[in-house]
Amino acid sequence: MTNVYGILPHGGQLIDLKDYSTDAQTAAAKLPSLTINNWNLSDLELIGIGGFSPLTGFMTEADYDSVVDNMHLQSGVLWSIPITLPVDQATADTIALDQTIALKTADGTIYGTMTVTDKYRPDKQVEAQKVYGTTETAHPGVKRMLANGEVYLGGPIKLLKQPSHGEFNDFYMEPIATRKMFHDLGWQTIVGFQTRNPIHRAHEFIQKTALESVDGLLLNPLVGETKADDIPADVRMHSYQTILKYYYPADRVRLVIYPAAMRYAGPREAILHAIVRKNYGCTHFIVGRDHAGVGDYYGTYEAQELITSVEDEMGMHFFKFENSFYCKKCGSMATGKTCPHSADDHISLSGTKVRKMLSDGVVPPKEVSRPEVAQVLIEGLKRKAALAND
Ligand code: ADX
Repeated sequence: MTNVYGILPHGGQLIDLKDYSTDAQTAAAKLPSLTINNWNLSDLELIGIGGFSPLTGFMTEADYDSVVDNMHLQSGVLWSIPITLPVDQATADTIALDQTIALKTADGTIYGTMTVTDKYRPDKQVEAQKVYGTTETAHPGVKRMLANGEVYLGGPIKLLKQPSHGEFNDFYMEPIATRKMFHDLGWQTIVGFQTRNPIHRAHEFIQKTALESVDGLLLNPLVGETKADDIPADVRMHSYQTILKYYYPADRVRLVIYPAAMRYAGPREAILHAIVRKNYGCTHFIVGRDHAGVGDYYGTYEAQELITSVEDEMGMHFFKFENSFYCKKCGSMATGKTCPHSADDHISLSGTKVRKMLSDGVVPPKEVSRPEVAQVLIEGLKRKAALAND
């Protein structure tokens, strides 16, 4: 039995570890504290609001080993990416086992508590190879993981304060709220869409193709930490709002932020992305070309292959799309599955190329980016550059 509307949450129960009471804050203020960064905070939040259900805390050593090794929690539930709290050895030495500590950000705000049941030293080379498929430090996820502290703290958390999402606050919803929203809208089938990029015609094509078969679309861009050369989240958010305004039926789409950090772990991250969207109430999830990939680390359809191998355990449906492009001869968006023409007739540009054009103020072809979207992106990037030069 589920405690909420809609599809069964991952692991069976939607987790809710929030306690925003003054009493909880007062009690936490008396505890020894650990300063966490924005990445840790986004994980804490997602555990607390149930986005990461069935997790109830940062991973213990047993769960971590099991997830790294065979993509399952100790309980037997599918889980693909370690959710960990790394600290350096000196900090770990100051925390006793079974001690409850307050988790605060650098400005002193307490966002949660954690009872530290586990302190362990992970084998990061193994984590890199198994989770990211490479030990190369040029991989942004591996680089980040290796730079983190050498000891991981594990144990249950409580979320004591809702982190602010600044100008995105209007687009913030907890999984319990998106589920209620879908129920109220009368949507029974909902497709989730993950993105860390500005929206382009291929995104639009695969979303709308999926939308032909389901009741609604949850456009769920990741707005947590991304690598420096990705387009900033605020600029991207404007691109999503713009395309929705001009090209989508308002009653079939909802834009909600996904406040997580990006791991760039390709296939394994695709599974995490799907699990979270299931927790948000999505019955379907889109996995296109090189989902959550970076550079040439993953095969174009490796994420789809891994998802296929665990589809039964996921308990949701997947729309798997081939590389999409605009075909001049077809006069429409297409993929190799539907277009008989040669690559010479296809218009598609790499993300890197489009980013370069946009930062140079060049409008990409309308077959690649909607002109209204391109305009918003160019202006947004110009504003960013001006701020950076101030
Ligand atoms: S991701 O890192 O969040 O996956 P991105 O925002 O580019 O990156 O992609 C969002 C989703 O759209 C992913 O499922 C991805 O596979 C898919 N996608 C992006 N571009 C294309 C394309 N040209 N053809 C098919 N699928 C695509």
